[in-house]
Amino acid sequence: MTESNHRTADHPIDTMFLKRWSPRALTQEEISEKDLLSLLEAARWAPSASNNQPWRFVYARRGTEHFARLLDILNESNQRWAKHAAALVIVISKTHTQAATGEMRAAYTHAFDTGAAWFSLALQTTVSGWHAHAMAGIDRDKAMITLGVPEHHRVEAAVAIGRLADPSTLPDDLREREKPSQRKPLAELAFEGRFKAE
Ligand SMILES: Cc1cc2nc3c(=O)[nH]c(=O)nc-3n(C[C@H](O)[C@H](O)[C@H](O)COP(=O)(O)O)c2cc1C
Repeated sequence: MTESNHRTADHPIDTMFLKRWSPRALTQEEISEKDLLSLLEAARWAPSASNNQPWRFVYARRGTEHFARLLDILNESNQRWAKHAAALVIVISKTHTQAATGEMRAAYTHAFDTGAAWFSLALQTTVSGWHAHAMAGIDRDKAMITLGVPEHHRVEAAVAIGRLADPSTLPDDLREREKPSQRKPLAELAFEGRFKAE
């Protein structure tokens, strides 16, 4: 079966799915705007209900005036390691669409669609030789204000993008956790014909 990155898939898959993981040890290397926009371009091509494309991204590259402001949105536990990232991206979804009448209607799939976009970004990041690490541990209220996010939008998560560093660069507690994680068996997750409760 497919093996890569200390992971073994039970069924054959492309190795990029195993190679993508969420490290915390990052090198402090900078990323050019051109390279970062290539990663976000992949997210742009994600599928969405009615092609609504509800994903929005606010990014800051290391070495720019914006980086410290975005870093400050993360919880302290994430700032500890994400401060070494080449770029931080705040992922936002548009929660409503405007009907022809002008009425704003809740978009049922805004989070599902934006999840597809974040993962397209993550896979492209892996393929391009970088790593992407999503974080829900952020201050969403602070993000709304700091980034000027308008109503009918939801701050979903942040993503740290960087080049992989040696685990020895991490504090002790994080170093111990610095390895690709495993997964539940597919049989616990995928059911033929009918949901199988645990
Ligand atoms: C939506 C989301 C939120 C996450 N939040 C955090 C976080 O706040 N801090 C962190 O260190 N990792 C966070 N992670 C990383 C997960 O812990 C990681 O993706 C999971 O353990 C699977 O490991 P892998 O990505 O290395 O395959 C988050 C991942 C996702 C997708």
